[in-house]
Amino acid sequence: MDIVSLVQKRLSETYELHSRCINPQFVRVLEVIGFQRNYRSGKGAWLVDERGEKVLDFLAGFGVFNIGRNHPVVLQVLREILESDPPSMVQMDAGCIAGLLAEALVSIAPEGLESVFFTNSGAEGVEGALKFARQATGRSRIVYCERAFHGLTLGALSVNGNADFRARNEPLLPDCTPVPFNDLEALEKELKSRDVAAFILEPVQGKGVFTPDDDYFPGARSLCDRYGSCLIADEVQTGLGRTGRMFAVSHWGVSPDIMVVSKALSGGLVPVGAILARRWIHSRVFDSMDRCFAHSSTFGQNDLAMAAGLATLHVLERESLVRRAGEMGDYLLAELRGLAERYELIREVRGMGLMIGIQFGEPRSLALKTGWKLLHSMNEDLFCQMITMPLMEKHNILTQVAGHGLDTIKILPPLVIGRAEADYFLSSLDAVLAEAHRFPGSAWTTAKNLAIRTARSA
Ligand SMILES: Cc1ncc(COP(=O)(O)O)c(C=O)c1O
Repeated sequence: MDIVSLVQKRLSETYELHSRCINPQFVRVLEVIGFQRNYRSGKGAWLVDERGEKVLDFLAGFGVFNIGRNHPVVLQVLREILESDPPSMVQMDAGCIAGLLAEALVSIAPEGLESVFFTNSGAEGVEGALKFARQATGRSRIVYCERAFHGLTLGALSVNGNADFRARNEPLLPDCTPVPFNDLEALEKELKSRDVAAFILEPVQGKGVFTPDDDYFPGARSLCDRYGSCLIADEVQTGLGRTGRMFAVSHWGVSPDIMVVSKALSGGLVPVGAILARRWIHSRVFDSMDRCFAHSSTFGQNDLAMAAGLATLHVLERESLVRRAGEMGDYLLAELRGLAERYELIREVRGMGLMIGIQFGEPRSLALKTGWKLLHSMNEDLFCQMITMPLMEKHNILTQVAGHGLDTIKILPPLVIGRAEADYFLSSLDAVLAEAHRFPGSAWTTAKNLAIRTARSA
């Protein structure tokens, strides 16, 4: 089978295939916002489309491509594994590469996380983490944060803080209680009934890119200790260098009881995830030989995924990407805050490392305020597309919004970007913002037309 020729031959049919067999609504969205490109290849921080145009990837597959696309070391490792006829998933054995990756993860994890369970995705990791906490504590209740995102399977959805995702799925798991992010008092009110198995949270919330105050994680840690609840850190997006530390919880010197990782561990090539837990938690789940499969997943320890994970950790370390994420993140944050001083549509720039949110807000000047109000009265979600669409169309930069109704764009580039990529992004954003600050102007007309098209096709 010649897969490369097959893809080349049928590349132009991609959107028709998706409309017919996968998700026609998503295809419509891509068409409306002008993102319906056919990508041919990717390397590092860049994608190439079928016309040969280079596109700068400031989305990184929502946090998958920390080491960039198609990293040569990961490719080499995967090729070597494939050529060695690997004894993957014998199931009634213990695979060597899984052991090596578990050892490597434990060696970089926050203190005390000594046992590893492998999964295929972030949501699957969250499901397992919730089960582990319930079994370890003998309690059933879970506390989670408003605006939280932990994946879309039913258990993970039960701790999702966004009404849009939860809708039409209720009733979800009983005994799951939301609290505002960054509010220790509200957390203590729930934990003190001593019936809470776990408090689960993202160190930096992906939806909207909200960062906590410095006392929040240490405070949550001591409340969990005081009331006997497990602290689950969902590092699916923040983990593996994204925020300028290997794991974001280390910014506050906190070690959770359970930590979930996924996305970037894949090297961008083979789906993988892991639940890291304290040994006592793991031992309560797998507490007898009868229960050695008390939680399991067929593909969890497959050799390709394990090898991709090992190669990714090797690259992160060898290329000092965690430090680089911190440095490039500081640079981008400072420059973006400079732009915020010049452009009144920007309300706030926040984030850590290379996870940055640019939040827009109602401007002061009369003309722009009129445009802002008009657009928001037509559609609460469209303003950011006024920025992301021209970034793509005119500057070939891929970015996206940070959630519904938040007027926030999320910047999530691969950690391999250098000053050249950062500066190209900044100058392009500067040009797009300048255009958006002219009302009436072409940016507002495009947004208005988009709102009309969206309303018509709803
Ligand atoms: C913080 C967080 N947790 C969990 C998930 C779910 O991961 P997956 O899509 O691999 O199931 C995501 C996905 O975006 C995430 O950002």
